[in-house]
Order: sequence, then C-alpha cells, then structure tokens
Amino acid sequence: MNVKDNTFLITGAASGLGAATAERLVAGGGRVVLCDLSDAVEAHAETLGEAARAVRGDVTSGDDIQAAVDAAVALSEGRGLAGVVHCAGVVSVGKLVDREGNPADLDAYNRTVQINLVGTFNVMRLAAAAMAKNAPGEDGERGVIINTASVAAFDGQVGQCAYSASKAGVVGMSLPAARELSRHGVRVMAIAPGVFETPMMSEIPDEAAQALAAAVPFPKRLGKPAEFARLAEQIVTNPMLNGEVIRLDGGIRMQ
Ligand SMILES: NC(=O)c1ccc[n+]([C@@H]2O[C@H](COP(=O)([O-])OP(=O)(O)OC[C@H]3O[C@@H](n4cnc5c(N)ncnc54)[C@H](O)[C@@H]3O)[C@@H](O)[C@H]2O)c1
Repeated sequence: MNVKDNTFLITGAASGLGAATAERLVAGGGRVVLCDLSDAVEAHAETLGEAARAVRGDVTSGDDIQAAVDAAVALSEGRGLAGVVHCAGVVSVGKLVDREGNPADLDAYNRTVQINLVGTFNVMRLAAAAMAKNAPGEDGERGVIINTASVAAFDGQVGQCAYSASKAGVVGMSLPAARELSRHGVRVMAIAPGVFETPMMSEIPDEAAQALAAAVPFPKRLGKPAEFARLAEQIVTNPMLNGEVIRLDGGIRMQ
C-alpha cells in the first residue's frame, strides 16, 4: 500500500510515537486524522497543514473512535480509511503487594488494561469495519492496522503486571486478528518498542534513563520517535508484513 494519497488514522497522535508517525506519513504524501485525548492534538494537526485533521477522542469510547474513523473517510475523498497506526496508551507501575503489605489497587489495574488493551480492540474493530468497505487495491488489499505493544509484553519488570498484561494482550490479538481480517484484505501488525525518547519516558529520572540507554546492546541510546515512524511506514508499504510483532529495541532484553 502506498502512503501517498492514502488516508490514515493515528491515535495518540498529540505526542511521542504517534505524533512522529503522523509527521512521517504526511511527509510521504499521505493524509492523516490525528486522534488523542489531549487538546495538544489540534495544535499538532495545524503544524501538518491541509493534509491533517484533529479529532479529540478517547480510544476506549466507541462513539469517539467512530467519529475519528468517519473523519478519516471524509478526508479521503472517496478512497476510504487505508491504515491505522494505533499509538495511544498509558504506562503504569504498581506492585501486587506494596512495602506496607497492601494489595495493589484493582481500579488502577483495570484502567491500564482498559486503555491499552480494550482501547486497541475498540480501534481495530471500528477501523476494520470501515476498511472492509474499501475498493480492493493490489493483491486485494483494503487496509493495514498497526498496533503498539511493548517489549514489556515479553520481559516485564517488577511493578509492570498491569502494563505487561495489557501489552501481551495486544501481542496476542495480532495473529487471530490478521487471520480473521485476511478475507477482507486487511493486514494486522504490531510494533513492540524498547525504550524511546518520548514524553512518556521523560517522567523517569535522568539516572534511570541513562541506565536504560546503557542496557541497549546497540545503539547505546534510547530510540527516537522518528525511528518508530520509519518502521510504521515500512509496514504500510510492505504487503508481506502481516500477523507479526516486530521488536524495535536495539536488542535490549529487560532484566
Ligand atoms: N516511549 C516508550 O519507551 C515506549 C516503549 C514501549 C511502548 N510504548 C507504547 O507506545 C505508545 C505511545 O507511547 P509514547 O511513548 O508516544 O507516549 P506519549 O505519552 O508521548 O503519547 C501517548 C499519547 O496517547 C494519548 N492517550 C493516552 N490515553 C488515551 C486515550 N484513552 N485515548 C486517546 N489518547 C490517549 C496521550 O494523550 C498521549 O498523547 C504507547 O502505547 C506506549 O505504551 C512506548
């Protein structure tokens, strides 16, 4: 699938990986609808010009994501929603039993799973239903969905039960979703980033960030959002990528 003249929905597009992906797809001649809970999404869409629209929305809401999908279909001028890069997500930390012996907060666990896992399913179901109506392109292709997992899906650390479970769920959905949507000509992929320089990571202290960078075999630094965007673009344009999760992590394996 070409980026040029096609229309993409990017969630979590106000910041970090989603914002960089929106920039890359517009630079490649694509049109983008940027969806995010944060009002910063409107300012980011403005910087991208005529090819971009902003829709404020929560990925856990059916109505909000349907509105974002509808906005993408409208922006496409009859071609339909070609792709989704779903980046919206939250990080969370919390032990099963804290230092004082108290059990973890169940609401906090539910919130992480609701946004990262249920939100991913919500975006996939509404995007796929729209893509199934597209006219088929080369090989009968109608669309591509790219989800964002995390290396924490495979090597979660202490305190990451909720985050790791939510991202492992994203990994687990990739193959069954790709198998099911194959009859519509829609591919499903996931990217599992290592540690990337985004506002999400800026919450951790400098020392911890340096230690994480040092733990990356090569290159010894945090990933750049533009590198995530490059992989997203490659997945869009390479039709043989389907039903797989790609680690993008410089070889890091979390202790
Ligand atoms: N940065 C990393 O090192 C890293 C590593 C692995 C995985 N990830 C994953 O990559 C994705 C993007 O992360 P990032 O680093 O760009 O973070 P970020 O905080 O910079 O961006 C995330 C965006 O998602 C939005 N968002 C959060 N909840 C939302 C909701 N319910 N509905 C709509 N939008 C919502 C936020 O407003 C924010 O703009 C996340 O899923 C994250 O878990 C990030």
